[in-house]
Amino acid sequence: MRPSPDCRLCTLSQNRSLIVLPEGDPCSPVVFVGEAPGEKEDQSGRPFVGRSGRILDGMLEEAGLPRSSILITNTVKCRPPGNRDPQREEMAACLPFLQNELKDRELVVGLGKSACRDLMGMDVKMKEVANKETAIDVDGKKVAFMPTYHPAATIYSKEAREALRQAVLYVKKTYYDL
Ligand code: URA
Repeated sequence: MRPSPDCRLCTLSQNRSLIVLPEGDPCSPVVFVGEAPGEKEDQSGRPFVGRSGRILDGMLEEAGLPRSSILITNTVKCRPPGNRDPQREEMAACLPFLQNELKDRELVVGLGKSACRDLMGMDVKMKEVANKETAIDVDGKKVAFMPTYHPAATIYSKEAREALRQAVLYVKKTYYDL
């Protein structure tokens, strides 16, 4: 189940250029979930292809984990105007698509505070929860969940950069070195 190319389920549809669908291996055991598409993603229809994407790509490469072997998506599939945080109703409208992307995964990695809030159903302090594995409910089933920092947060924070690096290395070692 995915949004139709002219989805109008929420008001984000009024300003978007392209819907940004998940990218990577649809059968991946691990899915990385960002917040929302930015300008480059809106123009290309692909997740994480701007500055944050380059940071994530660098860490994946460093870990020896090909981008094509994971699944990458966002809590909402359309760019919020001015890159503001997606609102509750917008996330709720996109939730059925997200749940479909998350179900039956072995691990969901939440990138950043907004995605983690949406996925965990509560406000969190990244400093407290980053890289601590927990579980979330996906369509009535528990799925392992790892909150970590958004790639954009690593630009100015060494701690965030190291945490995201470690999370990517953990994913590679635990789910792909078989
Ligand atoms: N930031 C996100 O959270 N998602 C993207 O796809 C790009 C930037």
